[in-house]
Amino acid sequence: MTYIGSVDQGTAATKFHVFDETGALMADAAQDHEQIYPEPGWVEHDPIEIWENTKAVITEVLDAEGIDAAELAAIGITNQRETTIVWDRETGKPVYNAIVWQDKRPTDRIDELVEAGWEEKIRETTGLEPDPFFSAGEIEWILKNVDGVQERAEAGELLFGNIDTWLAWNLTGEHVTDVSNASRTMLFDIHDLEWDDDLLAEFGVPEVMLPDVRPSIDEEYHGVTDPEGFLGVEVPVAGMMGDQQAALFGQARFEPGQIKHTIGTSCVMQMNIGTDATISEHGLNTTLAYQQTGEQPRYALEGEIFTGGQVIEWLVELGVLEDVAQSDELARSVESTGDVYVVPTFQGIATPYWDPKARGAILGLERGTSPEILVRAAFDSIAYRARDAVDAMKADSGLDIDRIRIDGGMSINNFLCERIADVTRTSVDRPVVRETTALGAAYAAGLAVGVWPDTDAIRDQWKLERSFDPVSDAETIDTEYEQWQKAIELTREWP
Ligand code: G3P
Repeated sequence: MTYIGSVDQGTAATKFHVFDETGALMADAAQDHEQIYPEPGWVEHDPIEIWENTKAVITEVLDAEGIDAAELAAIGITNQRETTIVWDRETGKPVYNAIVWQDKRPTDRIDELVEAGWEEKIRETTGLEPDPFFSAGEIEWILKNVDGVQERAEAGELLFGNIDTWLAWNLTGEHVTDVSNASRTMLFDIHDLEWDDDLLAEFGVPEVMLPDVRPSIDEEYHGVTDPEGFLGVEVPVAGMMGDQQAALFGQARFEPGQIKHTIGTSCVMQMNIGTDATISEHGLNTTLAYQQTGEQPRYALEGEIFTGGQVIEWLVELGVLEDVAQSDELARSVESTGDVYVVPTFQGIATPYWDPKARGAILGLERGTSPEILVRAAFDSIAYRARDAVDAMKADSGLDIDRIRIDGGMSINNFLCERIADVTRTSVDRPVVRETTALGAAYAAGLAVGVWPDTDAIRDQWKLERSFDPVSDAETIDTEYEQWQKAIELTREWP
């Protein structure tokens, strides 16, 4: 039996999965970490807690399954992207908490850059819409606001990394990232695969603190675990990918035009666009999907939807429903929302509107608006946001999209899958292994060390669990979707 380990460090939890060479999940464990909200709009994590949890979940899985670490052919790392950490090269101590991708503190700074005419340069170089979402504003904030950090960074004493880099450094001692994570910093030239000097200068980021950018599937390895470290053996860390790109990979979306949609706390849709980094004209980001040693990088168009499953969790917190498991049944118990629209803009709105200051709303309330209607309208909001992204992808690519592969925690919900198929007018396919993010990182690591010969072998392992096809009348759906767009515009005017 061949085992491949996969660390999936997400926004809410840290997981470790072990897969076998057929891509089947052998075992997993997860541990939540604290969400720190020091001020409204600020979101932080404790990097040390994340590293401790990473060790704990790896140990838990290996112990429970009786797997010796030496039996792991390789480890892959996948991660919440953009989240920013700066730490001391000697002591390994972070100089500040991790600033999470949801954090809005650089909003005014990004506005300032746009006003100063940086938008086009940022879009053309990095493929990204200028937004506080990406790492650049957070790194700059740490450099400017934590005492002595700018000077220490310039003197080469400090290192920057997203979570992938932080974990790889702790596991192997190497200061590395991969192209997919680098492309989320808003400092990386996605065409030349280099840090961009102009952007580094504008954000005041010394190059000496940046990690080496490597292929995602690294046949020379990102590093090897420290035999003196907690695993006690050398295991290659050979796959690194941001979590959304890992899901694309785990869903075997290797051909241009193929799409995956991940519904977790947030939702991210990606379309593989092959080897050309076409810049979006419809509010999508162009991002690096993955690169294998010796091969050209592959790119993706990405639709960002900051609020996904968290709208249902929010309804649970409000007491509108008891738990997430109840949501499918409640949503089905009413025929329609009767023109009630939930617009869950909790952290600003991204694709294709890009408005970090936008706020959410519930529109169309009546005395008879019930919890069931609110739950249904909340699910609809996830489906309408998927349509926002699909329509932008169709417009950018000129391709007719006929199928979406779906994954992420919320994809278990059949009602939601039905609505996404209906609203996007596209069939939705759900795989047997829904942990595609973790699987993608395992595939990347396994490919690098030769567990799988090529992506064809991976493509053959993908198995369909269930498909959902559009069933409602297209005209009705189009009318509902037009109302949704109107609801978005109304909320953007508030306050
Ligand atoms: O870009 C943010 C994304 O990587 C976060 O994913 O699944 O941790 O919410 P998730």
